[in-house]
Amino acid sequence: MTFIIAIDGPAAAGKGTLSRKIADTYGFHHLDTGLTYRATAKALLDAGLPLDDEAVAEKMACEVDLAGLDRSVLAQHHIGEAASKIAVMPSVRRALVEAQRAFSNREPGTVLDGRDIGTVVCPQAQVKLYVTASPDVRARRRHDEIIANGGSADYEAIFEDVKKRDERDMGRADSPLKPADDAHLLDTSEMSIEAAFQAAKILIDAVL
Ligand code: C5P
Repeated sequence: MTFIIAIDGPAAAGKGTLSRKIADTYGFHHLDTGLTYRATAKALLDAGLPLDDEAVAEKMACEVDLAGLDRSVLAQHHIGEAASKIAVMPSVRRALVEAQRAFSNREPGTVLDGRDIGTVVCPQAQVKLYVTASPDVRARRRHDEIIANGGSADYEAIFEDVKKRDERDMGRADSPLKPADDAHLLDTSEMSIEAAFQAAKILIDAVL
């Protein structure tokens, strides 16, 4: 049976880096499910279509190609914002969850990260992690990352964005962001990614 590791948590908590490290270590396939929402949003924006027409957004969601997802073209802030708007639409979620579930069955194992993996997409996952950090730590990390890449960033604006995205992700009716009852909580506020990885490895090795 495929071994599934579900990693959920709010934006900028470090789950992307952690997921890639876990997938590399165990030789598992990795899917960043946020990219599926971002690709749907980008397709709408590129076509000049509205973000509030559920039937149109669903059609775009059905056409997302998991093999073609590339964070470097989907990372922009306005795409993330648009993604979180269409992510409240049940029919968009249904289409993307179907593709994500098909991916999760790949052998020998998969790591999926997102907001609803342990609760909705793969409730049968053998290991569930809920990776979080305080909003100010997440905003600070995002700020420092932009500066390190040579950009300019305003901490206060990023902090407000982080809080707004949390509210939208945690407050929506369909598949809100929350830890599964059987998820292990990993608060990385005062933990390096390496320390979080070591903690995750112990939990995974205990059931693998
Ligand atoms: O994680 P990322 O910032 O790439 O996700 C973009 C948006 O997609 C999130 O803010 C969230 O609204 C949505 N999303 C979701 N369910 C997932 C992954 C992402 O609703 N499993």
